[in-house]
Amino acid sequence: MSTLLKIDVSPRGEHSISRKLSNHFATEWQSNHVGGKIITRDLATTKIPYVDLPWIAGAFTAPEQQTGDHKAALKLSDELIEELLAADEVVISTPMYNFNVPAVLKAWIDHIVRLNKTFGFGTQGLKGFVKGTKVTIVIASGSEYTAGSPMEAYNVQGPYLRVVLGFIGITDITIVHAGGTNRVAQGQVTAPAFLEQFAHEVDLAASK
Ligand SMILES: Cc1cc2nc3c(=O)[nH]c(=O)nc-3n(C[C@H](O)[C@H](O)[C@H](O)COP(=O)(O)O)c2cc1C
Repeated sequence: MSTLLKIDVSPRGEHSISRKLSNHFATEWQSNHVGGKIITRDLATTKIPYVDLPWIAGAFTAPEQQTGDHKAALKLSDELIEELLAADEVVISTPMYNFNVPAVLKAWIDHIVRLNKTFGFGTQGLKGFVKGTKVTIVIASGSEYTAGSPMEAYNVQGPYLRVVLGFIGITDITIVHAGGTNRVAQGQVTAPAFLEQFAHEVDLAASK
């Protein structure tokens, strides 16, 4: 039985374009994986603290030598990593904030990129331990960052996510970038018409 981990980031609830697209992904994925399990992690409601001194000290201390403070600081990180490692597939829906990931998604990343858990040293240096996990990332942004346009260089979000997920071993990554949501906000296009442009791309990613 396959497991999909669905991570949503936008705080805009039912108005969120990225959430609408990941919901569409989940529906399509479920029809392609009958009996498959979907685990939802909502980063708009999960309080993820920034990594602090006990977290860092604990993460770099052998488990048998970790103090109670270390263990407490790492508890949520352990849970988030377990969730990630248990998934065959992951869909992350996220807005673009200031050309990159929103802070809550960066906080999640800081908790799941962890020595000897998701990356470590192999015979040939650093290697990622998360193998065989397929990831789809749905990005919603107000503007468009079309390849070859002057705006392209401003989009550091997609490239960053590929780098950091690649570091922990995830290389099967599909990005669906729903750029131009400002047109919905300004009433130039309806939300359903805007979403329709990306439906096929999302369907393809969910059936890969
Ligand atoms: C704090 C903040 C920063 C934003 N920064 C950008 C940006 O750098 N580039 C962009 O194209 N849109 C930016 N936007 C617009 C959002 O990406 C856009 O509204 C998107 O649709 C939000 O995703 P959602 O619909 O899933 O909530 C920003 C919006 C907010 C609230």
